[in-house]
This record gives sequence, structure tokens and C-alpha cells, in this order.
Amino acid sequence: MPSTLILGIESSCDETSAAVVRNGQAVLSNVVASQLIHSNYGGVVPELASREHLRAIVPVVREAMQRANVAYSDLAAIAVTEGPGLAGALLVGISFAKALAFGANLPLIAVNHLEGHIHAVLMDATTAFADASPLLALVVSGGHTHLYLATQTPEQTWHYRNVGKTLDDAAGEAFDKVAKLLGLPYPGGPWIDALASLGTADTRLFPFAQIKQKATGNTAPKLAREAALQPNDDPARFDMSFSGIKTAVRRYVELHHMQPAIATRDDAFRAIGLHKAKPDTMNLARALPYFDAPTLNLIASFQNAVVKNLARSAFHAAEHYGVRSLLVSGGVSANSELRRHITAEATRRNLPVAFPAIALSTDNAAMIAAAAFPKFLTRDFAPDTLEPTPQLRLG
Ligand code: KG4
Ligand code: ZN
Repeated sequence: MPSTLILGIESSCDETSAAVVRNGQAVLSNVVASQLIHSNYGGVVPELASREHLRAIVPVVREAMQRANVAYSDLAAIAVTEGPGLAGALLVGISFAKALAFGANLPLIAVNHLEGHIHAVLMDATTAFADASPLLALVVSGGHTHLYLATQTPEQTWHYRNVGKTLDDAAGEAFDKVAKLLGLPYPGGPWIDALASLGTADTRLFPFAQIKQKATGNTAPKLAREAALQPNDDPARFDMSFSGIKTAVRRYVELHHMQPAIATRDDAFRAIGLHKAKPDTMNLARALPYFDAPTLNLIASFQNAVVKNLARSAFHAAEHYGVRSLLVSGGVSANSELRRHITAEATRRNLPVAFPAIALSTDNAAMIAAAAFPKFLTRDFAPDTLEPTPQLRLG
């Protein structure tokens, strides 16, 4: 196979990233600059995100090219995230990619960020996952919680159909909001993941949100391939909800008068510089004196409820559509309890399951370059007039 090198650029939220990927699989470089500034505000501030992307884009792309040890003349195409995401943030990546493509006389490929997350798994699971299609993809991140039926066409491109989504908060958003409520740094998902393993989950604390499954028309289970390729057919839905669990945590905190301890923890974290820190072993050890057992148990119970909710919808949908495999991706797919629970349940059901490498779970440009490869093969290039599509949908 000829060597097709694609430079990917991702700037949809708060990571500026560039990567060089060969033939949609081999990552030659993947540079990710995370914007720490948002931890001052407990969430992403769109105006600051655009400004930080503007600062970072040139050095990040240069470093990705240097680490891959390639020149622009070695590239076959430039791929960029078209959406969904923050308009101003997307605009920085798109404008830069357009200028580069024009200057180097290379085709430009527009990639849906959500498809990128799916390719973060496919790019290194292809051997073990050779006969994976049709598959069910659970994409679960700070901004999105979706279930897609994904089918590979004979031309090796992919076709997606959305069969479930959150009706309110994304699962990652629930992690981040509950973390903020408990005085933990942003992003909160990794902190909750690390702290939950030190508590005991009470499975009765946060019951499942009961979302009525929508199954209009012919409710009989369909073969996934058939369902994925029939655009006019109204499929059964496997929607989810996470705002109820978040509200239940807030109520629990109020009822058990936990606010003073939370305020103390928040102050202490700021005083010792933990409020912008990642929960590595050393920071976790420094943080632990500020948590009592009921707080750790609350964190474990919350995480357990979110994980069980996600898994329940995914396995219902997988069963309904009779898919051949399950793929889980997006920032929340880094969660250790989600990986453990879904792997155990998939093994029990004899359903092959794959997750991305941890570094490819959260936003990165390697997944954008990987998703662009099948589009390169079918000459699916973007026009010069490409613009951000903040609400871009997949399937
Ligand atoms: O995919 P991503 O980097 O950005 C979006 O496209 O949204 O996902 C970021 C989200 C954040 O909400 C973050 O808290 C969550 O992923 N996250 C985690 C973990 N690592 C990141 N959530 C739970 N457990 C983790 N280990
Ligand atoms: Zn993402």
C-alpha cells in the first residue's frame, strides 16, 4: 500500500492538537496542547478558548511536523475538524488548515469530531476488530453522549445512524458539574475516577432515569446493517439522561450539610495549588486528607450510577440491533470503572468490545487524521469555502 500521510488539526473545544498519521493507522506524531486557563473558571470559556487556540496553533502544528520528521511536500492531505464544537475555536483550526492546504497545494478534508472519536478506536483496533461492522459506537464526552450504528461500506467508508443520545447533560458534563459541586478541579472526570476507587458505591443512592424507549413503526429488532442503511426508517431509540443524577447529588450534599467541608476543601486546594492539578499519584496523596469516607462513597455512588446508565442503554441497543461489536470512545471512555464494567458485561454476552488507548480517548488530532483516510481514498475533499458547523450532526 502506498504511504499516505495526513496532517490532522483539531480545535473544537479546549485542546489545540495536530498529528501526522500514516494510512489512517500509524501515528507518527500527536501533539496536544491543553488549555489550563479554563480551570480558573470551572468550565470552558469560549472566548478564552479561541484566543488560546490562536496562540497555540502555529507551534503545535510545527511540532507535530517535526516530531513526525516530515515536510509539507510529504503530505497527501490536510484534515481538520469541521464541527461540532465552539464556533470561534473551530474557526481557528479551519482557517489555519485552509491556508496551509492552499499554500502547500494539498487537498483539505473536513472531519466530523464525533466520527474522529470513533476512529480513535478503529485506528488501532482494526486487527482484532476486523469483522467489527456493523457495530455500535458509544461516544461519550464532555459535550456529547451518543449511540451510533456504524456500518462499513464496500468502499471502506463508514455510514452512521444515531440511535440514542442524552436528552439533557452529556455524561462528561455531569462528571464535571458534580466535581465542581464537590470542590474538585476542572476537568472533574479524571478526579472522580481516581477518588471513586477509594470509596464504596451505594447502588440504591441514585436510581436510573427511566427514559421511555421510542420504538415506532415496526418494533421488531432489525439487523444492524439494514437499520443503519435505511435513512427513512424511524429506528428504536435508546436515549439517556444524566441531569437527574447530578441534581440528586446536589440534594444529597444539601441534606447531609456537606457544604462547609466542600468550601474548606476548595480553599485548601487553591492554597496548595491543587485547583489546577491533574490527579496523578502525588496530587492524589496531597488531596486525600481533605476527603472523608462519606464524600468518597458519594463520589463512588455517582460514578457507579453514570456508568450503569451508559452501559444499560448501550447493551439494550446492541441487543436490539444484533450488532457484531461494541466500541466505546470519547473523553469519558478513559474512565476505569466504565471500562471495567462494560468489558465484564460484553464478555458475559460474548460481544467483542474495544476502547481507545487512554491518550486517544480525549480530544486529539490523530483521530481526525485517521477518520480522514477513508475520505481521502474516495476523494471526499472539502470546498475552499469550508466553514465551522458548531451544531454538526453525525448520522
Ligand atoms: O472528548 P473530550 O476530550 O472532549 C469533548 O469532546 O467533550 O472529553 C472531555 C470530557 C470531560 O468532561 C472530562 O471530565 C471527561 O471527558 N473525562 C473523564 C475521564 N477523563 C476525561 N470522565 C470520567 N473519567 C475519566 N477518567
Ligand atoms: Zn471530543
